[in-house]
Amino acid sequence: MDSTGDVVVPIHLSSTFARRRVGEPTMGLEYSRTGNPTRSALERRLASLENATHALAFSSGMAAETTILLSLLKKGDHVVAGDDLYGGTRRLFESAMKRFGVAFTYVDARTTSRVEGAIRENTKLVWLESPTNPLMRICDIGAISRLAKRRGASTVVDNTFASPYLQNPIDLGASVSVHSTTKYIGGHSDVVGGALMTSDDSLFEPLKFNQNALGAVPSPFDCFMVLRGSKTLHLRMERHSENAQKVAEFLVEQPGVSGVNYPGLRSHPQYSLARRQMRLPGGMLSVELKGGAVAARRFLSRLRVFTLAESLGGVESLVDHPATMTHASVPRAEREKVGITEGLVRLSVGIEDASDLIDDLRSALS
Ligand SMILES: Cc1ncc(COP(=O)(O)O)c(C=O)c1O
Repeated sequence: MDSTGDVVVPIHLSSTFARRRVGEPTMGLEYSRTGNPTRSALERRLASLENATHALAFSSGMAAETTILLSLLKKGDHVVAGDDLYGGTRRLFESAMKRFGVAFTYVDARTTSRVEGAIRENTKLVWLESPTNPLMRICDIGAISRLAKRRGASTVVDNTFASPYLQNPIDLGASVSVHSTTKYIGGHSDVVGGALMTSDDSLFEPLKFNQNALGAVPSPFDCFMVLRGSKTLHLRMERHSENAQKVAEFLVEQPGVSGVNYPGLRSHPQYSLARRQMRLPGGMLSVELKGGAVAARRFLSRLRVFTLAESLGGVESLVDHPATMTHASVPRAEREKVGITEGLVRLSVGIEDASDLIDDLRSALS
């Protein structure tokens, strides 16, 4: 308990902090970009969610990613990345980081030996998503982290899709877990934020330095919102997974659907790996519609309970058309190479009554 007995962490708005003595920040606090009590409370919570020693909060998932890249890489370094990543992550690599002389190789990380084959002498990071966005592919986080470490590289896992309740990359051997807290950790589509967690002190030092030096920190109000959302993460993830399983099982039976990507289906190619490294298969899935772009447009315009919007991980169900929305920044040829077609639709299954969701999908497909 703190000195006032607050049950809920207060929103601590002060941008600066008075010093009782010259040359000594009182209680370690000096200026809110450097450190703020509401943000510290959030960072303690985030570290505990990933069983990590350290966590840092940021103003967005992209801000967390940018800080990782600018802290751990320099000109001449190389990154091996999964080939099915959030479009904004790929844009950050290609448009911003390449200009500073960092090279990227994209591989299908479902096959661990492909990641191994792409590692060079100057590879500093292996960057993974599992499940991937939007194809829901799974890679072996433990095996890849071990081989990266043997070759002198750190593994960063974007754990946004799973959330820390379903998967803990650091426990599996990764060096850093990164999240868009905008998604499941916040959980209510009402705040944009990001976070990274690590138990590696040598990585934490430059990351912490650059959280302040680069300055992409969240406001105290945003920290409060993420703290509040995180309290129900376990309850929401159980329900997201339960609903998504029902939705996936419904969709595989539909004549207008040619494929469903969901790690909770036995037909998923990495079903047993997903069961080993995730507690539950989660709330995200993607569907390939027969009839390509025309079928996708028709389906999207007929949904009523699912809202057509970017983002994911909130209590309300959302639907996304990756080719024209979240992954529009990925060049068409690259998209098609990995399998992001015009007929692919991504669902973020919310916590509503599953039968309302299935009725909505049935009528949009009919
Ligand atoms: C997997 C993944 N990583 C990172 C991000 C970026 O997070 P933010 O939008 O909070 O910057 C997103 C956003 O959609 C995402 O889906």
